Amino acid sequence: MIKINKPTFFKNTRYEEASLSQIELSEHEADIISSWIFKPKNILFMSSTPGIGKTYICSAVINHYYQKNLPIYYVSECELLDKVSGYINDGRNALGEWQNLCDNYFMIWDDLGSSRTNSRYKELSPWLADLFFVFLEKRIDYQLPTIITSNYSIEELKTFFNDRVISRLSSDENTIIHLRGPDRRKNLFKEPK
Ligand SMILES: Nc1ncnc2c1ncn2[C@@H]1O[C@H](COP(=O)(O)OP(=O)(O)OP(=O)(O)O)[C@@H](O)[C@H]1O
Ligand SMILES: [Mg+2]
Repeated sequence: MIKINKPTFFKNTRYEEASLSQIELSEHEADIISSWIFKPKNILFMSSTPGIGKTYICSAVINHYYQKNLPIYYVSECELLDKVSGYINDGRNALGEWQNLCDNYFMIWDDLGSSRTNSRYKELSPWLADLFFVFLEKRIDYQLPTIITSNYSIEELKTFFNDRVISRLSSDENTIIHLRGPDRRKNLFKEPK
């Protein structure tokens, strides 16, 4: 459904040159995230307030894997729902196609829950629940490396998702981290020293 094609994906975006060596985190956060990235298994769940660098970290991981010629599949939640609504309109089996894609080795779901605050996706929220459950089941059953990012903590996601989703997401097998720090979008406008 959405396959990363490195020459075009993130091309001409601020994330194009993202690199693992440029990620700025506290020592504790960097230890947790780098241990997972260099030995990825099960789910790395990263939550934070906006602008801390979650998508940047995902892009750096993508670049890292592409340099090693390893495939990695990235979806941002709203883009996924846009695709799915197109498939529904075309009478295609969107859930089936998504289920097949979830077999892929390394996947990233960026911005979990972001569609919930966007009225454009209101009617698709039952789809979101199904898509995310299918994704989680596949990723967990096969213990495939998976990154999920969100502006919501798992506790906050309880208002969107049922107990079965939350139980899988918060499993002790997963690496769950809440990142702290400034909104980097604000620093873009700082006067140079
Ligand atoms: N280590 C870094 N080096 C340089 N720029 C960075 C770094 N981390 C993040 N940025 C920049 O900071 C801004 C915010 O980062 P990003 O988009 O990754 O945040 P986010 O946590 O995904 O935010 P949101 O929750 O709103 O999606 C972007 O302009 C990004 O390019
Ligand atoms: Mg982001």
